[in-house]
Amino acid sequence: MLEKLLPQIRIEVTDIDTCLDPKVIFSPRPKSVFLEIGFGGGEHLATLAAANPDAGFIGSEVFLNGVASMVRHVDKQDLTNVRIFNEDVRYLLPILKSASLKRIFLLFPDPWPKARHAKRRLISPEILEEMARLLEDDGELRVASDHPVYVRWTLLHGTKHPAFQWAAIGPEDWRTRPTDSAATRYEEKALKEGRPPAYLTFRRRPRGE
Ligand SMILES: C[S@@+](CC[C@H](N)C(=O)[O-])C[C@H]1O[C@@H](n2cnc3c(N)ncnc32)[C@H](O)[C@@H]1O
Repeated sequence: MLEKLLPQIRIEVTDIDTCLDPKVIFSPRPKSVFLEIGFGGGEHLATLAAANPDAGFIGSEVFLNGVASMVRHVDKQDLTNVRIFNEDVRYLLPILKSASLKRIFLLFPDPWPKARHAKRRLISPEILEEMARLLEDDGELRVASDHPVYVRWTLLHGTKHPAFQWAAIGPEDWRTRPTDSAATRYEEKALKEGRPPAYLTFRRRPRGE
């Protein structure tokens, strides 16, 4: 099934100078497109795609077993609004059209907690800059993590970037998962092992605000 279905829903980047409007890869064209980076087993991506049939969902994952699991969700639930990029997301972001994404999810990214590995973290000033370019006005970047180093790192860089505004008003806003979201495997593991996650939502300020 992986061999049959994956080629039909896979995004291939053959030319790094392309500019891809993500809406054109879905039929019918959705009003909005969501991107999930590192979807793992795909539970969150599949739940959201099923709940929002009018939106398009792009999932990026490098781990083959995760990709296979997501393809199974697509097949079982007959999801027609999912596309998969099964390579490093850093090859996908630069080719996407500006202001083309409504929401970007980065849920329980590998924390790379040691300072000498900080360059490997998926949140960085350079990637935030790319995400700010890709998000539409008032779009959202949602990051969840159970790792205190990564939470601090994300807050530091997210609040420093002029295009982003941390959307939390009170502690409940970052202590509880947004109601329109869904659990992931890593979240369940973190909760079971007594590491309560932080859910950080950054609003993309309207251009020219
Ligand atoms: C800790 S796991 C979390 C998986 C899932 N989001 C969850 O919460 O259960 C991080 C995932 O990110 C994926 N990943 C790491 N770097 C990536 C990259 N540059 N592009 C796409 N996926 C990546 C890994 O393969 C891994 O599956």
